[in-house]
Parts: sequence; structure tokens; C-alpha cells
Amino acid sequence: MKLATSGMVIVALVLIAACTPPAAPPPTAEAPAPPAQSAVERGKYLVTVQDCNGCHTPFTEKGEPDMTRMLSGHPQAVSVTGPPRPPLSGGWLVAISNTNTAWSGPWGVSFTTNLTPDRETGIGAWSEEAFVNAIRQGKKGGSGRDLLPPMPWRMYANLTDEDLKAVFAYLQTIPAIENRVPNPIPPPGAPPTE
Ligand code: HEC
Repeated sequence: MKLATSGMVIVALVLIAACTPPAAPPPTAEAPAPPAQSAVERGKYLVTVQDCNGCHTPFTEKGEPDMTRMLSGHPQAVSVTGPPRPPLSGGWLVAISNTNTAWSGPWGVSFTTNLTPDRETGIGAWSEEAFVNAIRQGKKGGSGRDLLPPMPWRMYANLTDEDLKAVFAYLQTIPAIENRVPNPIPPPGAPPTE
């Protein structure tokens, strides 16, 4: 009787062992992670969705950004000498040139700048720090005068450092275009703006 009982215990143990799931198989090589987005790719994405081209790329006569002049700012050949004449009235605040790159408002006339890597007329000679500061602080060249409307730097200032640096990295890879953008025209009675 005693023997029979221990025999049953052994059978039970064997059964339990047989029902226990096998140990997990040894780890196999994991599927390769998708390649991380490079800073330049991230910057391209940010420049696209934040519509930098909407203001910094001159428009064609059809009213679309002319991508052969991508992000080169107000065309130096298009002369704008001051606010529209006669001045805006009837509740209108802002006028925009047909290139979409010269903006007239209570701040005078501002011109969208050359964001291409041309060293003389664009941002090719800028440091990454100057670029981040220009957008974070809204300062010309990163440390100069306050940037004028309609540059939406107050919104872009919320980008992370990493994203701002990615935008700069991308802008350094686009075709350099030599285009000297004029200085802003101050409103009547105000001193000249550099
Ligand atoms: C709504 C129009 C508008 C949009 C959109 C816009 N900008 Fe601007 N931006 C301007 C104008 C106008 C100026 C010139 C302001 C001035 O002269 O004070 C400017 C100036 C700048 C400057 C300062 C250049 C300097 O010489 O100091 C930088 C940098 C800049 N923009 C980057 C960008 C980037 C990057 C984007 C997209 C993420 C962008 N802008 C989108 C209108 C715009």
C-alpha cells in the first residue's frame, strides 16, 4: 500500500513535468531596427511642415513657391521702395508683394531672408548657435535687432534644441543661391533698420 502510494506520487510528478511548458528557446538575432532618421532628414521634414517655403521662397506669377529659388528670400532684382501707395485703408493692415517675400505693415516693410548656405548672402557662414538663437530669441543673426513680422519665431522658439539644430543641418545641405536681400524699410519717421 505504501509502495503503491509512492508509485502514484512518482507518476504524478512525471506527469506534471511532462505538462510544464518547455523553457523559452534561446534568443534569436532580433530584426534590425529601422534606421534612425538623420538630423538632415528630420530638418527637411520640419522645414516642409512648418512652411518655411511659404515665405522664404519667392512665388512664381502663378502664386506658387518657385523651388528653383528655394528658400533664397526676397529676390534682389525685385525692387520694393516702400509701402503701397496710396497707403492701406478701410481696415486693411498688411500688404504683400506678388513674390510673397516683401511684407508691408505697421513695422514698415520686411523682406524674407536668404536661408540657403551661400556664405555671403545666406546663412552658410552662420554657426549653429547663431541660428538657434535667431529663432529662440527672435534676433537678427542670433544676436542683433529684434526680428520683424511676419517671421513666426515665437512659435518656432518652442522647437527643441535638437529640432532647431536639425533644421539648421538641413538648410546647410540645400543648394546655395546668391541673393542679397535688402534691409527692411522702417515705417515713416522711424530711423533706418539694419
Ligand atoms: C509668415 C512668413 C514667414 C515664415 C512662415 C517663415 N519666415 Fe523666417 N522670416 C520671415 C521674415 C519676413 C523675416 C525677416 C525679418 C526681419 O528682417 O526682421 C524672416 C527671418 C528669418 C530668420 C532670420 C534671418 C537673419 O538674417 O537673422 C531666420 C533664421 C528664419 N527667418 C528662418 C525661418 C525658418 C527656418 C522658417 C520655417 C521653420 C521660417 N523662417 C518661416 C518670414 C517668415
